[in-house]
Amino acid sequence: MTTRGTAAARTHVATNRRLWERQAVGYERHAGRFLSGRRAMAWGFWRIPESELRLLGPVRGRDVLEIGCGAGRWLVALAGRAARPVGLDLSRRRLDQARGEMRRARRRVPLVEGDAERLPFADATFDVVFCDWGAMTFCDPLRTIPEASRVLRDSGRFVFATSSPWRVVCQTFKPERMTRQLQRSYFDLHRIDYPGEVNFVLPYGEWIRRFRVAGFTIEDLVEIQAPVGRATPYLTKSERPWGRRWPLENIWQLRKEPRRASRRSRTRSPRSRTRRPGANSG
Ligand SMILES: C[S@@+](CC[C@H](N)C(=O)[O-])C[C@H]1O[C@@H](n2cnc3c(N)ncnc32)[C@H](O)[C@@H]1O
Repeated sequence: MTTRGTAAARTHVATNRRLWERQAVGYERHAGRFLSGRRAMAWGFWRIPESELRLLGPVRGRDVLEIGCGAGRWLVALAGRAARPVGLDLSRRRLDQARGEMRRARRRVPLVEGDAERLPFADATFDVVFCDWGAMTFCDPLRTIPEASRVLRDSGRFVFATSSPWRVVCQTFKPERMTRQLQRSYFDLHRIDYPGEVNFVLPYGEWIRRFRVAGFTIEDLVEIQAPVGRATPYLTKSERPWGRRWPLENIWQLRKEPRRASRRSRTRSPRSRTRRPGANSG
């Protein structure tokens, strides 16, 4: 793909690092309590519990990597369930916040400052790679999907929550709000430039092709419907009814095929049937 390698194409990493260094404290003030306690090991805007969705599978004794771990509340909860979690984040301030969470919880979890597009881990290090609106929202999936596959062991799980294509296609940016009109081209989804922030979302077909090429099978696609009457700090009151009718967020649950099977599917993997993502964002 054209985005591979060049420094110019990776400016989003520096933009997003600046964003998170700048807003780490404000984000915690705004959402920290909502992400804590029994909502720590839960997904997305409405904190749907992992105990209900069961997407990670058994974690006891498993090596689990969170990419874009933020203040590390998932990590603390996973350590409490006898997993062997590791947290990776781009932002030094967010990792400082994670250290604070761990001190308070008296848990020690390894934390790594790094970029999820270039994971600083050997091949086949983890049983589970996951994120909850973490690095998969802010990184180019053309890089992160193969990286997640590389660091996973055979049959390992890759699970991530991020924006649905529906949300991005119906969203205005200035001001940022949900509408009932189509605001941008579906086929051009890839890099989404907000003021001072870059996100990434692919059309569904392109997600699926990228997963297959990287050796994943899809176990589930959870399209979260906003629970009735439940508040979230991530949406205004007037935006919440939108999420009752259309999915704002998706959670992909993938499994890395054992190597022999994945080689076979790679040779069969189809060429992109949509236009190349990122060819013309806007
Ligand atoms: C919305 S927060 C989610 C973190 C956590 N789930 C939470 O809610 O606190 C997104 C996180 O992704 C991290 N991030 C952004 N780009 C990244 C990258 N290229 N590599 C690793 N982490 C990244 C940010 O620093 C931030 O901590």
